[in-house]
Amino acid sequence: MQSAKIIPYSSPPIRKAAPAQVVISLEGVSKVYANGHRCLTDINLRINKGEFLFITGASGAGKSTLLKLLYGAERPSTGQVLVEQHSVGKLRGDRLARLRRRIGIVFQDYKLIENRTVGENVAFVLWAQGYAPQEIRRRLIPTLNLVGLADKVNQYPKQLSGGEQQRVSLARAIISTPAVILADEPTGNLDVENSRQILRLLEKMQSLGATIIVTTHDQNLIRMSEIGGQRLHQLPVMELYDGKLFWVKK
Ligand SMILES: Nc1ncnc2c1ncn2[C@@H]1O[C@H](COP(=O)(O)OP(=O)(O)OP(=O)(O)O)[C@@H](O)[C@H]1O
Ligand SMILES: [Mg+2]
Repeated sequence: MQSAKIIPYSSPPIRKAAPAQVVISLEGVSKVYANGHRCLTDINLRINKGEFLFITGASGAGKSTLLKLLYGAERPSTGQVLVEQHSVGKLRGDRLARLRRRIGIVFQDYKLIENRTVGENVAFVLWAQGYAPQEIRRRLIPTLNLVGLADKVNQYPKQLSGGEQQRVSLARAIISTPAVILADEPTGNLDVENSRQILRLLEKMQSLGATIIVTTHDQNLIRMSEIGGQRLHQLPVMELYDGKLFWVKK
């Protein structure tokens, strides 16, 4: 009988998958406005780094409120809202401002500064964060190009259409390549082709590592994501209904 050869056992080291990094978490979050309006009830949600989530719901369902809780414009009545491990509801002043710099926000009502040009509105985000002028110049036109507005750099918001203002708002949200992007109805005023481009742009930001939440009641936008790029068809969708958050598609 041949003696069994002892083969030294050397398996490759087990490479553990990096644990998913939770970037956004809501734990038992409810929101009752000062006038007594109960808007959100016991919301629980966890979003990992690099995930892209759609939140839908009828007008008044609480989509903007949910985002406001995430960037600290509203505080939860109960429960905890964590963004990158910071309890947003407890942050004030400088600490809240510092966290907000990590978040790109597309506001539903754009919030552009009327007496500043498109270029100044977008560059302002970087000025506020202390970027050097040459870095601001390096980023500004390419970012405006991404939203198709480089030729409007010297126009004022009042000189733009609603959809153009919305795209300025998006440019402002992405110019600092933030860790988190919260986009509140980012295509509410756009036609199909522009909506598609915005979706592609957000997908690009996701591929660069951003964690993204997009609220919308535009079912076309969600359908577009299903027939869009290969990655987009997997985007999960949740719906706010009666103050609660439900999975539509995981
Ligand atoms: N500051 C406030 N005080 C009292 N009630 C508020 C306040 N802000 C919002 N609400 C109410 O909370 C509910 C949710 O508002 P929210 O703006 O979050 O809805 P939404 O889902 O974003 O709607 P839309 O699709 O129209 O943008 C609405 O009934 C609204 O009237
Ligand atoms: Mg809203």
